[in-house]
Amino acid sequence: MMARNRVICRAVDVTKRYWRGKVAVDALRGVSLEIKSNDYVSIMGVSGSGKSTLIHILSCLDTPTSGEYYLEDKLVSNYTDEELARVRNTFFGFVFQSFSLLPRLTALDNVALPLIYAGTKKQDRILRAQEILEKIGLGDRMSHRPNEMSGGECQRVAIGRALVNNPRVIFADEPTGNLDSKTGAEIMEILDRLVDEGNTVVMVTHDSSLAAHAKKTVKLKDGMIEND
Ligand SMILES: Nc1ncnc2c1ncn2[C@@H]1O[C@H](COP(=O)(O)OP(=O)(O)O)[C@@H](O)[C@H]1O
Ligand SMILES: [Mg+2]
Repeated sequence: MMARNRVICRAVDVTKRYWRGKVAVDALRGVSLEIKSNDYVSIMGVSGSGKSTLIHILSCLDTPTSGEYYLEDKLVSNYTDEELARVRNTFFGFVFQSFSLLPRLTALDNVALPLIYAGTKKQDRILRAQEILEKIGLGDRMSHRPNEMSGGECQRVAIGRALVNNPRVIFADEPTGNLDSKTGAEIMEILDRLVDEGNTVVMVTHDSSLAAHAKKTVKLKDGMIEND
């Protein structure tokens, strides 16, 4: 596990402008922040405040319009497409509101999928996915497909998939948004535990009771960080 407090992600005055036809939409208007190893950060703000845009940039799914974004002190805009793809697959794990599992694959194969891109051998992929599924309490669901599992179980599989590569940062965008409150609380317990075990989690939510799980909260308003 990486040393605590080492800066992994650093955004400096990042902006993001989208175009809707001829109308500019300034989703981010100068955001600076750091994510350190073993941080537990919640990103809060009303719908449209730029939360998803920010984590897309932090996780290299999208690029800023202006400003700088560094990963472990390397300027991401200098990366080639290949380096960027590798970074995306090895640095980050993703958990989405909609689970985003592949419907035809079993829980085991969904969790093992990122290891195919990482070039891991089949036997090792299976062992690693089994180990992860046991760890998140799904040892008895390995051969179930998403439509044979509850929403909470599907989200746990998605967390397993996010973890399988030992990512530097796990990004979760409204991870409990499609779950009832009891199941949502179980998912939050897993995220809390991952941080206790040394992982780094950045979670988007508009729910302050969920944000309270994190050790640090970033409030976004109209594409800017709100200081209080
Ligand atoms: N691909 C896009 N094209 C145009 N506008 C977008 C796009 N993605 C997001 N936006 C706009 O940018 C703003 C911020 O969106 P988003 O980051 O999704 O906010 P949040 O996740 O906080 O709801 C919103 O006004 C949204 O409509
Ligand atoms: Mg969003």
